Amino acid sequence: MTDVLEPRAIGRDLLRRDGGLKVRGTAVYADETPVPEGAGPPAYCRVVTSTVARGRIVDLDTTAAEALDGVQRVLTHATAEHLASTEDRELAVLQDAEVGFRGQIVAAVLADSDEIAREAAGLVEVRYAAEATNAELRAELRADRTDLYTPEKVNAGHETDTATGNMDDALALAPVTLERTYRTPMQHNNPMEPHATSALWTGTHLTLWDSTQSVHRVRDTVVQVFGLAPEQVRVVCPYVGGGFGSKGTPHANVVTAALAARALPGRLVRFALTRQEMFALAGHRTPTIQRLQLAAERDGTLRGIAIDVVEQTSKVKEFAEQTGVPTRTMYAAPNRRTTHRLAALDVPVPSWMRAPGECPGMFGPEVALDELAVELGIDPVELRIRNEPEVDPETGRPFSSRNLVACLRAGAERFGWADRDPEPGTRRVDGWWVGTGVAASVYPTIRMTKSTATVRREGDRYVGRIGAADLGTGAYTVLPQILADALGVDEARVDVLLGDTDLPEASVAGGSSGTTTWGSALVEAAREFRDEFGDDPREGDEAAADVPPNPAEQEYVMSAFGAQFAEVRVHADTGEVRVPRLYGVFACGRIVNPRTARSQLLGGMTMGLGMALHEQSLLDPRTGAVVNHDLAEYHVPANADVADLQAHWLDEDDPYVNPMGSKGVGEIGIVGTAAAVANAAWHATGVRVRDLPITLDKVL
Ligand code: MOS
Repeated sequence: MTDVLEPRAIGRDLLRRDGGLKVRGTAVYADETPVPEGAGPPAYCRVVTSTVARGRIVDLDTTAAEALDGVQRVLTHATAEHLASTEDRELAVLQDAEVGFRGQIVAAVLADSDEIAREAAGLVEVRYAAEATNAELRAELRADRTDLYTPEKVNAGHETDTATGNMDDALALAPVTLERTYRTPMQHNNPMEPHATSALWTGTHLTLWDSTQSVHRVRDTVVQVFGLAPEQVRVVCPYVGGGFGSKGTPHANVVTAALAARALPGRLVRFALTRQEMFALAGHRTPTIQRLQLAAERDGTLRGIAIDVVEQTSKVKEFAEQTGVPTRTMYAAPNRRTTHRLAALDVPVPSWMRAPGECPGMFGPEVALDELAVELGIDPVELRIRNEPEVDPETGRPFSSRNLVACLRAGAERFGWADRDPEPGTRRVDGWWVGTGVAASVYPTIRMTKSTATVRREGDRYVGRIGAADLGTGAYTVLPQILADALGVDEARVDVLLGDTDLPEASVAGGSSGTTTWGSALVEAAREFRDEFGDDPREGDEAAADVPPNPAEQEYVMSAFGAQFAEVRVHADTGEVRVPRLYGVFACGRIVNPRTARSQLLGGMTMGLGMALHEQSLLDPRTGAVVNHDLAEYHVPANADVADLQAHWLDEDDPYVNPMGSKGVGEIGIVGTAAAVANAAWHATGVRVRDLPITLDKVL
């Protein structure tokens, strides 16, 4: 059991420390990095990307581009430096003539201005020998597909397939069964700040100012790909304009920027992806096809639950996510099966997007439960409560805390669920069909194993150091709160420095693990500090500590839970779908800062609203191109889409998760949102939409 901190600064809704800088526009982002002293004039990088999805470059003519005044270099597979490691094909930029997806980098122009670089890129002529493209995730029955395979890696170390009891028997014997197929589309992360890197090679040293969720991960990757020593590479990232997972692992743009810097030593090279390029080079959420099977008693008791998932990866590199995993833990059922299969296609490499796995993976099950509730004539809130497990159904271990039922009850109360008429398509107000729906949320409480923090007395202040990232989440604000309580000093006297590989190594800002991991390391460093220097430290006194293992993880399953309630209006004539009310109630342990936590939960719910109604990357199977590759055609929720959106939480006391008693809040807000909206859309119209997004053509 972990010693839980006495909260003094923890729990206060302090303003974001970086808020003023960001609002005033003075926070410096990667592409705005000032030219360091001693460096030459900056150079600008623009890339040429492939117009075929599969094939070979047979001719690449750079003559016209190189003749342009102000062009310094044109890098191609014929001229670029050979990388030390090309094992990761996503990162093997400009290494050979092979093309593995549409939008792949085939040339990089370096010039004295961005305008010249862009013009020169347009002058590069490329001819391809194109091969047949297979870019469509289409079949839902595995028997039809010979190209599906069992993933080698499922995210976060989960088993690919699991089975308990006998699902086939459960389906044969249960009085009520349900089998449905659900689909979630390809989606793209669209942080406001694009993927950007400024790079400088001086002597034997490379410095990258990169927009990333992990400076150390970028450094380690570049070290490996270029065959350098870790001391030769520094990665700096004070601010990130959003990432949502797409900046959790370095993509081809980082390697391109480093190649460019090595080609122009002494000059700062700036390389920012365009919004359109991000749709091929920054990862995407894999589309999923989910077959759900439920077997139940007439009173709603589940006898069996199964999910079989098919998703896509790229032929260039395998990426798989744990879509079926939440089904293993959500509801009690003696018979269960989960499986994952991949189709390798001629598409860009998928990657993380807010709650990869859990987010798409809770759509099918939470809509299927709603369908079962309808079939049984049981209220969907009540159906979930009836299937609440005593312990984790997968491992048999207790939960460190689990308050899904309390979230469902509190949400139902707040939302006014009790008055709901279960009949669909019965409420019409001013030409709009009105309905309500509910779904559950879940996200695991993750602690990464590698992070180190230091604490140092400097003047009248205490300074924590850890190479972590604040990608807009509030880490700059909550980490000082945690450190202050661990030191027993006023939060106003504490700073925590982030975002530089010169700081102690930190884990990625991903998996909603940052506060748990870095907070635990800081608390441990503060303990060392107090043990060594007592309560009256002197200038320069310093202590360091690694994130300690948490033995409670062997005994307990740790997850945050939530319940989301949506009201949906569907226009009777046009089919326009609106969400006037969306309430989430979450149980996420102790809330370190209500202001930044609410912002995370609301952000996740807003993104979930986008998933429900808008977001879909349309991949043309003939060309392998995402055709709606900009923010005009790939719609993310705008102010007009968001009405009464509320995030609430329960006081949850969990002494096992970490010294703060906190669980991650970055991702759970997006989990379950789309199912709640889809269930409400059914209630409004009687039309069951099983493939996202819920567009007007599907409900009319
Ligand atoms: Mo998040 S998708 O784990 O950065």
